[in-house]
Amino acid sequence: MLCLGIETSCDETAAAVVRDGRVALSDVVSTQIDIHRRWGGVIPELASRNHVIQVMPVIDEELTRAQVTLDQLDVIAVTSGPGLQGALLVGLQVAKSLALATGKPLVGVNHLEGHLLAIRLAADAPEPPFLGLVVSGGHTTLYEVPAFGTYKKLGTTRDDAAGEAYDKVARLLGLPYPGGQPIDELAQKGDPKAIAFPRALKSHEVLDWSFSGLKTSVLHHVQTHGVPTGQGLADLCASFQEAVADALTKKVMLGAKKAGATQLVLCGGVAANSRLRGLAQERADAAGVRLYLPPKRLCTDNGAMIAVAGAEAFRRGVRSDLSLNADPSWRL
Ligand code: KG4
Ligand code: ZN
Repeated sequence: MLCLGIETSCDETAAAVVRDGRVALSDVVSTQIDIHRRWGGVIPELASRNHVIQVMPVIDEELTRAQVTLDQLDVIAVTSGPGLQGALLVGLQVAKSLALATGKPLVGVNHLEGHLLAIRLAADAPEPPFLGLVVSGGHTTLYEVPAFGTYKKLGTTRDDAAGEAYDKVARLLGLPYPGGQPIDELAQKGDPKAIAFPRALKSHEVLDWSFSGLKTSVLHHVQTHGVPTGQGLADLCASFQEAVADALTKKVMLGAKKAGATQLVLCGGVAANSRLRGLAQERADAAGVRLYLPPKRLCTDNGAMIAVAGAEAFRRGVRSDLSLNADPSWRL
């Protein structure tokens, strides 16, 4: 069973053909990071325009690399939300046109379901039930997954997503966009105990996060002491990173305990973070929970995760028709 996945929800134009919902034949991602970097964030109109330029070449390149023709596909999957409306519409229009022209079935995929199921491309992947933390630039939400297609929200951020906090703090520190990787790299050379940044919502009754106070603490630190350089910058990054990883993993382990979960998946761009991965492993081991971490390239946006979720939905009988529209705030 061959599924083509198309992803254009934010600033990556991506396409991949996945066999039997588990094996990516290839995976082409064209990122617009360099275009948005000078603005310090994603400019929706620029994103849409660049998806228009890139989407057909990306799909062509994917089919060539995967050595698959359109005829051979069994289903076409496309991200239909959540994300930027104009950006989503580009992928949708192409997917609908391909489905119409080839007569192949079409499946609209929730981007967050794509992140949660990306782990299925790894050799070692859990069958449900499992818990999944989606932690990215736009989302920080813990889901209980009793079966594919059933997602129960256990907790979420009350303000900024963790990735958004990374990107905003990076901007404060004069580091490039997106801020996750540069902060992660600097943090590895710093002292995580150098600055005692606050942890919000510490109560064991609350399964939510809040990162805007942490961001404000970094702002106050910089206003008082100036933007540090050298070792001081590394120490600040390490202290910030520790606060994020500590908050994320504490609540995730609380969620695992409350739900009686024995399997846990981390996914989304921030799941590429070195300290989050390390601390999650430590705490999962201590709690007897089996942790599944997708390889880093599967954490950030890609087409293969959309093809996996599309193939799985197709197997369950999900079908979309040509009235499929973008749903920028589609909740999973
Ligand atoms: O999943 P993703 O590619 O796009 C969204 O759906 O949002 O995630 C992008 C986010 C950005 O905020 C970026 O700064 C963050 O993931 N990120 C990281 C790391 N790599 C990417 N955050 C922390 N540490 C990293 N190593
Ligand atoms: Zn994403």
